[in-house]
Amino acid sequence: MKMFPQAARLSNAPLSKIREVIESAAREEKSGRSVIHLEIGEPDFSASRCVRDAAMNALQNDSIGYGPIMGQPKLRRAIGDLYGAKYGIPYAEEEVIVTHGVAQGLFLVIMSFLDDGDEILVPDPGYLVYDTLPKIAGAKAIPYDLRPERNYQIDGDMLEAKVTSRTRMILINSPNNPTGTILDENSLEAVRTLARRHNLIVVSDEIYREVIYGGTFSSIASMDGMRERTIILNGFSKYYAMTGWRIGYILCPHDFMDPIMRLSFYNIACPVTFIQNAAYAALTGEQGSYLDMVHEYGERRDFLCKELNDIPTLSCHVPDGTFYVMLDVRKTGMSSDEFCMYLLRDWGVAMVPGQVFGGNGEGFVRISFSVSLDILSDAVKRIRCALERHQRLLLS
Ligand SMILES: Cc1ncc(COP(=O)(O)O)c(C=O)c1O
Repeated sequence: MKMFPQAARLSNAPLSKIREVIESAAREEKSGRSVIHLEIGEPDFSASRCVRDAAMNALQNDSIGYGPIMGQPKLRRAIGDLYGAKYGIPYAEEEVIVTHGVAQGLFLVIMSFLDDGDEILVPDPGYLVYDTLPKIAGAKAIPYDLRPERNYQIDGDMLEAKVTSRTRMILINSPNNPTGTILDENSLEAVRTLARRHNLIVVSDEIYREVIYGGTFSSIASMDGMRERTIILNGFSKYYAMTGWRIGYILCPHDFMDPIMRLSFYNIACPVTFIQNAAYAALTGEQGSYLDMVHEYGERRDFLCKELNDIPTLSCHVPDGTFYVMLDVRKTGMSSDEFCMYLLRDWGVAMVPGQVFGGNGEGFVRISFSVSLDILSDAVKRIRCALERHQRLLLS
């Protein structure tokens, strides 16, 4: 019996399994093996010069005391204007709150609107935090299926069957981590119908909305009757390659804002002042390098998917966005865990077993292609050799 047991609300909140993979990979490296890291979900680019300069200038010249709870007005206006000018859904300054990344945005939204026993529908497979945060809040995350046979799109009937009298919210993530799929018009319409019929809040995690390769992304908030019930989460981690800067934002109608703002005050008091100057520079500075970055991801995606689909026992859907591929390993005869373990221990390639993202991820492995083409090419060679050897062992 521990002398100081943790609060019961944390009993269902283990550390992310991706951390375990990262730690196993680090152990392999320590023992002298060269490891290719395809497990990490962050850009291999770094924030642009103007962003770093803006942070440094702010540190040197500006007041860096506490700021407004909701964030600097000029940054909030720039974010709201961006959504208006670029995506056709303008948000006013008072409809934007700056957060410590989408991670804190999710925390604020879940804690502000879910009570004990309430239910939220979350994608399976999906970003693992969606499943855990509601549990910390005393609520229930009810997974809804995204299946490769349906190109990871949403089936309206399946969704309807998940609704109970306790359902309060549905969360969508497009493009999706880990599948890379952009939700199409039919999927969005299914969510819109459900949300209006059952009076649900829709939470739309749009963190990868700019990391797309052709295809079009449209936000559910732009659909008829949806702006008033949608909370958008977005941030600077992926497109602006600012993961460690911990900055993001929430966009929502003013009605939603008051509890979110109060909770953020109790949680962080205010977002970090000088990082907001950097985020403002990212939004308003030259944008060419970000487009180049996405172009490069696109080339890696094409290379990786072609190579993987050429290996007889493997297959993958070509993702519309993000820098992830869900690799189908079912024909190898190995479970996702066995596949990842074998590839890491014997071949030095670190990847994440799909079930980390929910039950539908079993039989799949998430590969992150936020590494150079040369590294990817080495990884593919190792995977190919690993499977040839595995086949030979099966036959011998
Ligand atoms: C779908 C999704 N949402 C949110 C996050 C977290 O974003 P942030 O760095 O802004 O907290 C991630 C990070 O991997 C993600 O994949």
